[in-house]
Amino acid sequence: AAARAPLSRPDDWATQHRSLRDPGEPDPGFANAVDTNPALRHNQVWADRIRARLPEPELGSHRVHAAAIGTHAEVDDVLDRGRIAGEAWAAVPAERRAEALRRLAGEIERLRTDFVTVAADEVGKLIDQSDVEVSEACDFAAYYAERALDPHPGVVAVPPRLTVVAPPWNFPIAIPLGGVAAALAAGSAVVLKPAPPARRTAALLHEACRRAGLPADLVQFVVVDDGPVGRRLIDDDRVDTVILTGAAETAELFRSWRPDLRLFAETSGKNAIVVTPSADLDQAVADVVSSAFGHAGQKCSASSLAILVGSVARSERFRQQLVDAVSSLHVAWPDDPAAQVGPLTEPPGEKLQRGLGTPEPGQSWLVEPRRIDERLWRPGIRVGVQPGSDCHQTEYFGPVLGLMSARDLDEAIEWQNGTVYGLTAGLHSLDRGEIAHWLDRVEAGNCYVNRSITGAIVRRQPFGGWKRSAVGPGAKAGGPNYVASLVDWVAESPAG
Ligand code: SER
Repeated sequence: AAARAPLSRPDDWATQHRSLRDPGEPDPGFANAVDTNPALRHNQVWADRIRARLPEPELGSHRVHAAAIGTHAEVDDVLDRGRIAGEAWAAVPAERRAEALRRLAGEIERLRTDFVTVAADEVGKLIDQSDVEVSEACDFAAYYAERALDPHPGVVAVPPRLTVVAPPWNFPIAIPLGGVAAALAAGSAVVLKPAPPARRTAALLHEACRRAGLPADLVQFVVVDDGPVGRRLIDDDRVDTVILTGAAETAELFRSWRPDLRLFAETSGKNAIVVTPSADLDQAVADVVSSAFGHAGQKCSASSLAILVGSVARSERFRQQLVDAVSSLHVAWPDDPAAQVGPLTEPPGEKLQRGLGTPEPGQSWLVEPRRIDERLWRPGIRVGVQPGSDCHQTEYFGPVLGLMSARDLDEAIEWQNGTVYGLTAGLHSLDRGEIAHWLDRVEAGNCYVNRSITGAIVRRQPFGGWKRSAVGPGAKAGGPNYVASLVDWVAESPAG
């Protein structure tokens, strides 16, 4: 039998309920029409700018810096400067750290258009997806500013002196900024090590820090890969802490370089949405599709499986709605303001080729994926996915959804929990008994009922995983304990 995950949930574990919809209420629907949605009219302006590939004066000299992979000597210099900046920052009162973070939120907001256009150009992120990311970045800065001010009676904070923040390329704005802001709130200097495909977006974040008046060298960035120079950065005593968001393998690589590393990592996921016969099936189709194919499935939080219970698995109507919804998705490059599924950041690697390739024995395509360009794919849906198969276990990180048919809710939960990961999980059900039963048993950091399973909201839906989806003490990003968990706490010595 598979080992069960520890029974205690992360400390700030929270469930996220969408309120149960009154059956008489109109269906909110999910397709946006260009002419009725003011946000999409705004998108047109950005789309024109993306198409024109307007110069990015805001990047200034960072453009040059962002172009080059750092050398050993640069890493050495960055670490020396960072240690000195960290020493000074640790002595800055929390009120001033919080003020600096609020200014940073303001500067990010002012650079919104530039973030949207650079992320589109660099990693192919669609306008609507990076627009919300800018908002999330602002939320992180403002929220961690508040958390910097939390009273901690009876203990003294010993901040890390220097934190490396190593974000992924798929959320190039919010995740790096979240790590940087948390470390700054905790009293640490930062070296931002962007994922190389997202280096120019990182340069823009660095520019936002400069405009916010943060001391020079407090936030530096250096582009390194996971070769010898990257190893030099992680495996150096001048670095106290690493905040990583990326593949589980990267967390394991960092650990192998430095077994005693103070590592806070949010890693991979293989997430599923369970749909029971009591669900609002129209809503379920919309949420499965958006969770599976938002950002072309390139999210650790994405739902790459839907587990259909009992009569839902046999429902022709449900299947047809899913096929229609997926077939009608507008697949396009980010300079199309109505695009719903955009490009892959890089052509499919070995894992995703498996996902998009010939289905395993017993599986077939309900919707066959189609290559428009090596980076642009019409999404695919496989049926007949069995527990233990590659499609059940592997995070393909792309536009492929697998459907599983479960006898009952318990079997669905067993399959939902039956991977090494535990990041996000969803349930669609309008039956309160089923919801309670599921919440008691599901093994995932972020559990969503009757909504999509991506797009956690800072403060309201702290984000982080269980099992192989997380490394570290377990406080969740965007939650009340995250900043405090980066700090070492020592008891105050008694007066006198
Ligand atoms: N926080 C993102 C989400 O919830 C994933 O990193 O989708």
